[in-house]
Amino acid sequence: MSILIIGTGYVGVTTALVFAELGFEVTGLDADERKVQTLSEGKLTFYEPGLQDLLDQHLAAGRIRFTSEAKQAIRQNTILFLCVGTPSDENGSADLRYIRAVAEQIGQSMDDYKVIVIKSTVPIHTNERLTAWIAEAQPHPIPFDVVSNPEFLREGSALQDALHPDRIIIGSRNQAAGLHIQSLYENLNAPCFLTTPTTAEMIKYASNSFLATKISFANELARLCEQLDINVGDVSIGMGYDHRIGPHFLKAGIGYGGSCFPKDIKALLHIAKEQHTRLSILEQVHEVNETQVEHFLQLWERKIGGFAGKRIAILGLSFKPNTDDLREAPSLAVIRYLTSQRAQVRVHDPVAKLPASLQSAGVRQLEHLEDAVAGCDAAIMCSEWDVYRNADWEQLRDEFKQLNIFDGRNVLDRQRLTELGYTYSGIGNAARN
Ligand code: UDX
Repeated sequence: MSILIIGTGYVGVTTALVFAELGFEVTGLDADERKVQTLSEGKLTFYEPGLQDLLDQHLAAGRIRFTSEAKQAIRQNTILFLCVGTPSDENGSADLRYIRAVAEQIGQSMDDYKVIVIKSTVPIHTNERLTAWIAEAQPHPIPFDVVSNPEFLREGSALQDALHPDRIIIGSRNQAAGLHIQSLYENLNAPCFLTTPTTAEMIKYASNSFLATKISFANELARLCEQLDINVGDVSIGMGYDHRIGPHFLKAGIGYGGSCFPKDIKALLHIAKEQHTRLSILEQVHEVNETQVEHFLQLWERKIGGFAGKRIAILGLSFKPNTDDLREAPSLAVIRYLTSQRAQVRVHDPVAKLPASLQSAGVRQLEHLEDAVAGCDAAIMCSEWDVYRNADWEQLRDEFKQLNIFDGRNVLDRQRLTELGYTYSGIGNAARN
């Protein structure tokens, strides 16, 4: 069986490779010819562990190919997965322009029955709008079904998440179409929940919002723990033993980032506003996240007597480890704050690249960790790459001007660093008491 994946960004490429791995013939369609060319040459356009091997393997086996020939690709496939982006509009709502453009292309090109599956995260009722857009674009009526099948994979562990999902959510008005899509996943042995398309759309927003709520809860609690000299990480561990709470997504830090949580929360708040309904908890989740960087930077700033004129190293630029994605990365808010305080900023990240706009603002990225911390008054860890956990902090000690470590992810070994002479501060991360 063959599958067409429309949109070869992060979700599209991962989905395409997972279906190739499951034994399907997969075509990745993208309007961007350069992207198609790059992927056809076996090069990924983003960093994600494990995907390169699968791309090499399935290109060589002829199980995956990439094209920009939309009409032909749409006609050759019955199952079409939509994986195009839904960026935030200025008012926080999801911008459906790419979904609409693809809908028109499908309507104009299709010459027989299709199942169109929405994987992109989309506002409630998008499946109905998509149905209308496709039907309007058809020169004459041809039957099709629209199915909602949201994606839950995390950057940095996308392959693992996609091959071992906690659940598959399928929303379909036509049960046969829903079961057809369910059958694509049968070898994954994951629980499958068949529901309506609007419920499936809401499950995606609700899941991301709930995870972000757990994080913001821990982050706000960290502020109080900081005052009371309690270690918030230990509080999370103690809470996590309760099965009703669970240990995941309770790690306090300088805030969540990435392409999903910030965008999806804004989108759900916008949807609620349109319905004249307040999601007050979610408003606060957003608010805590927006203020977390500044809250802790101000505390740390006092500890080192102000950032002005100080040289500060940023460890980890990406919004989380094992990705080069900078979207909504807390590191960027940290850098903005530091430059506004006239600090000299040095950056290190094993993979992610400093945006040109920050380079021209005087921020420098160094390839080696020892160069990044050289002459620094403090290092602020923004994403917990293993290279920082496993760094030789004893050797690095000689590079620093002042031995201050501000751990924005609470993962470095406070005791060891303190023994080495560093002054360590985390996020609500007092020494165990
Ligand atoms: C998220 C969802 O987890 C995934 O299901 C969805 O499909 C896309 O959005 P992603 O953004 O890739 O995935 O990464 P995730 O691991 O969820 O982390 C998001 C942010 O939360 C990161 O900035 C991370 O550092 C932060 N985080 C996560 C915390 O601050 N504390 C935690 O305990 C967990």
